Amino acid sequence: MPVLDHALQTDSAPCDAVHQKITVTFDYPVLFTRKLLEPANTTLLHAISRNEPQRRHRFVVVIDQGVAKLRPDMAEEFERYADHHRHQLQLATTPRILPGGESVKNNTAMLEALQQWLHDEHIDRQSCVVIVGGGALLDMAGFAAATVHRGVRVIRVPTTVLSQNDSGVGVKNAVNAFGSKNFLGSFAPPYAVINDYDFIATLPMRDRIAGMAEAVKVAAIRDLAFFNWLQAHATALRLGEEAECQYMIRRCAELHLAHIAQAGDPFEFGSARPLDFGHWAAHKLEAMSGYQLSHGEAVAIGMALDTCYAVLTGLLTMGEGSQLCRLLEQLGFTLWTPLLELKDESGRHLLLNGLDEFQEHLGGELTVTLLQKLGQGIEVHQMDKAMLAAGIQWLRQGLPETCA
Ligand SMILES: NC(=O)c1ccc[n+]([C@@H]2O[C@H](COP(=O)([O-])OP(=O)(O)OC[C@H]3O[C@@H](n4cnc5c(N)ncnc54)[C@H](O)[C@@H]3O)[C@@H](O)[C@H]2O)c1
Ligand SMILES: [Zn+2]
Repeated sequence: MPVLDHALQTDSAPCDAVHQKITVTFDYPVLFTRKLLEPANTTLLHAISRNEPQRRHRFVVVIDQGVAKLRPDMAEEFERYADHHRHQLQLATTPRILPGGESVKNNTAMLEALQQWLHDEHIDRQSCVVIVGGGALLDMAGFAAATVHRGVRVIRVPTTVLSQNDSGVGVKNAVNAFGSKNFLGSFAPPYAVINDYDFIATLPMRDRIAGMAEAVKVAAIRDLAFFNWLQAHATALRLGEEAECQYMIRRCAELHLAHIAQAGDPFEFGSARPLDFGHWAAHKLEAMSGYQLSHGEAVAIGMALDTCYAVLTGLLTMGEGSQLCRLLEQLGFTLWTPLLELKDESGRHLLLNGLDEFQEHLGGELTVTLLQKLGQGIEVHQMDKAMLAAGIQWLRQGLPETCA
């Protein structure tokens, strides 16, 4: 018997309605390994064939140019790997190399070319697209794959700190369009994620440091013990010590995964994005800089600004605010950019438009995550613009004086 929708039942003239409810379960492994493409390493084989180990699987590979430059043999390594496991794997064609970095998300012609390639290679819903690269390429190629046949299987192989500890293990993809960051995109959980720590060794220091912003973020709002660990190992992390970097990536990825699985809103139907501490300003600063500031660098500045704001409004103690800013500096971040001071004709900080844009992207009530304690975030629904301007001034004076 059809169930009337509750809202409709209360109407004076109810219409006939059938309430539909669908539950779809997603599960995917996040695998940690090294030397992914050595034929004896079966991580990739198992990731691709994890649901049907008995059949042969077709797959294509997309590689970030930044990675391919440093590992020019990678396309052949994939070919050798597929050949070694030829009874279970079939590489459909030569791996395709695409630019890495934000430029790949800014050019919809590249998106279309990739969709065309997937079409020409007859990629179907039982085939896999293996994407090897940083967060930007994963986002763009992931979106292409999500739109082909309404979504084909994606194996993400993140190659940066940020993509291994945050973006690559999550459920989203996107490209920038119409002047807006991440305007076109979808929620599309991957088929599997493989974090090969060896990629981190070739990463330029700037990108390695930038990715740690997400670790500070998730520690600051969720996990005091991890925050304390980051403080204790800041020097080693800044220097790129292997054991510390691996632990940081793994713990950060775990915290993101736990949030996605347990916080109750993996596809962000609500107006809140509880993990996006520092992100309203970060997204605006990235765009204002013409993407010269990377996502992680902008997140660090965004967190520092929101920390100054939280201290100024009495939400957070000066001592705790100071600890957060100092940790970011010890990890190698610069917490100031002149972009923070840019103003429109009416004297208003351009950055503050980022608050409205953040709200518009999520819809509904403005919801920003701030800190009330180290290890504990809190959602607020308004930000005092005059106080934010004061926060910018505070940040300008430089740290540690700012919050000390
Ligand atoms: N989908 C999500 O949930 C989500 C979350 C956070 C961030 N992001 C997005 O991620 C992007 C940032 O990603 P990122 O920080 O990984 O940087 P990136 O993808 O922009 O890569 C930075 C640079 O490093 C190069 N590179 C990648 N791996 C390398 C390696 N192992 N060795 C040498 N060079 C390498 C790239 O070619 C590029 O030039 C942004 O577009 C951001 O919006 C997405
Ligand atoms: Zn982020």
